[in-house]
Formats: sequence, C-alpha cells, structure tokens
Amino acid sequence: MKVTVVGAGAVGASCAEYIAIKDFASEVVLVDIKEDYAEGKAMDLMQTASLNGFDTKISGSTNDYTKTAGSEVAVITSGIPRKPGMSREELISTNAGIVKGVAESIIEHSPDVTIIVVSNPMDTMTYLAHQSLELPKNKIIGMGGALDSARFKYRIAEALDCPPSDVQGMVIGGHSDKGMIPLTRHATRNSVNINNFLSDERIKEIAAETRVGGATLTKMLGTSAWYAPGAAVSSIVQAIACDQKKMFPCSTFLNGQYGLNDICIGVPVIVGKDGIEEIIELDLDDEEKGLLQESASAVKKTNELL
Ligand code: 2OP
Repeated sequence: MKVTVVGAGAVGASCAEYIAIKDFASEVVLVDIKEDYAEGKAMDLMQTASLNGFDTKISGSTNDYTKTAGSEVAVITSGIPRKPGMSREELISTNAGIVKGVAESIIEHSPDVTIIVVSNPMDTMTYLAHQSLELPKNKIIGMGGALDSARFKYRIAEALDCPPSDVQGMVIGGHSDKGMIPLTRHATRNSVNINNFLSDERIKEIAAETRVGGATLTKMLGTSAWYAPGAAVSSIVQAIACDQKKMFPCSTFLNGQYGLNDICIGVPVIVGKDGIEEIIELDLDDEEKGLLQESASAVKKTNELL
C-alpha cells in the first residue's frame, strides 16, 4: 500500500514513523513545502529501518505531488499547530486554505484515495474536504476521536494504576476542548465498568482531563502534541491497509445519523479497506444525546467561518 503524508512537521513525521514501524505499507511519501525538509525527514527515518526492522520505503518530496501518484491513503497534517492558550478553532483562517489546496493536489494524482484529515480545527477541515472533493463520503475520515480516546484510556489507566491496554474507552463528539464527550458510562477495565473502581467524582475529573488533553500538552510543549496523534493516525491507516473492520470514533459526514445532518463530527465507525464502512449508532442516554447536540452546534458554528 502507498501512503502519502502531507506535512513533514512533528505530527506528519510521527505518522510516517509509526506507519513504517508497523510495516504494513510498501511506501510512505512525505510531502512538505519547505525545501528539502520532507526529504531530510524521510532520510532520517530510513536510517532507522535497519534498526527498527521495517521494509517500508519512506521518501520525501518538496511540494511535488506527482511523487504521491497512486496513493491508496493520504493523511493531511499540514497547517499551523496551536500555541499555548489557543483553541483549535482559531487556526481556521490559516489552515482552511492550506487544507483545501492540499486535498485538491492529492486527488489530482490519486483519484481513488482515502483521505485522513488531521489539521485543525479537524471536524471543520474534514467538512471542508467533503465540500472541496468529489470523493464518496466513506473516503474522507477525520482523525480526532481515536486520539482523544487514547488520552481518555491513559487517564483511566493512570487513575487505576493499571496497564492502558487493560482499558477500553471511547470519546465521541467534536475534537475540541469543550465539545468532546468521553463515554464514561461505557468505559471498562478489562470488561468491568470503571465505576466499580472509581468514584463518580474521580470519573468526572478524568473526563475533564481528557477534554483538555491536547491543550495540556500544548502548554507543556509550546506546540501541539505529535506522538499520540501520529500513533492514532497509523492505527486508522493500518485498519484500511489490512481491511481490519476495526471500530474507531472518527469525524464522519452524517446524513441523519444521531439526528444530525450536513456535519462532520466524531462518532463510532467501522474502518476497513473502503474507509468508513459503517456508522455505528450508539444508544446514547439523554445526557449524552444533549452533549452531542451541543457539540454539533459548536462544530456547525465553526463550519460557518469557512
Ligand atoms: C491534539 O489534540 C493536535 O488536535 C491535536 O493534540
């Protein structure tokens, strides 16, 4: 499988690195507008191949999309990341033009591609990709919920002092500090609901920590995180490459599901070779339904800025 990653910054390079290390792709092409930057990152990553034991071929291109031709999957990470104190929504004026141009350049050389959008504000950038491209709805995936769910599971594991691999949990809704909905009711430690181990108050704290997981790291790092976003992207790309029929919360175009229309927002989907193969409609309780409607209203408000 050939994968393109646009944006060779920290997030894009981490996407490429994790995809290569998992060794399910034949080729990863890193693209950036900065002269020789993608080529340099690709070379550095290829120099880990004999050490990390992968055969994936990573190459770089300075804004030459002919090198991306025939990609089955393309990941868009380009655009500016948040600075401490910024919301993801504040990035829209800069990132919308970048994402639109990149998406059009990708599709010109890979008409059957599945696109994964990472750039923020992610739900709105995913919606923009739908508006800009003649791709079927199942071929455009917004990556946010998989990352937020990984942060949710990390916080639960931290509270339980247990391995994160023992934790199941999902975050739906908008990929924003206020719009995320950690489904605490469904979270488990090896199939046992977390309310068997944690007080309601502690569970509420975990949900709050999850919502600002990105902002917490941006404050600590001075820029957006990159390892967990890269790992989340590589898991979704692997589900496509290996036709895994794996369930992730992804920003998906809704056409009536959850009572929502003409919006991209995080809901559980099944990911396989055809991208989003099924949208799962959970039986949400009244509180969760209300939160999803509020989250959707906030996403639609950001969409109006496009
Ligand atoms: C994050 O939450 C970059 O939105 C991404 O870290």
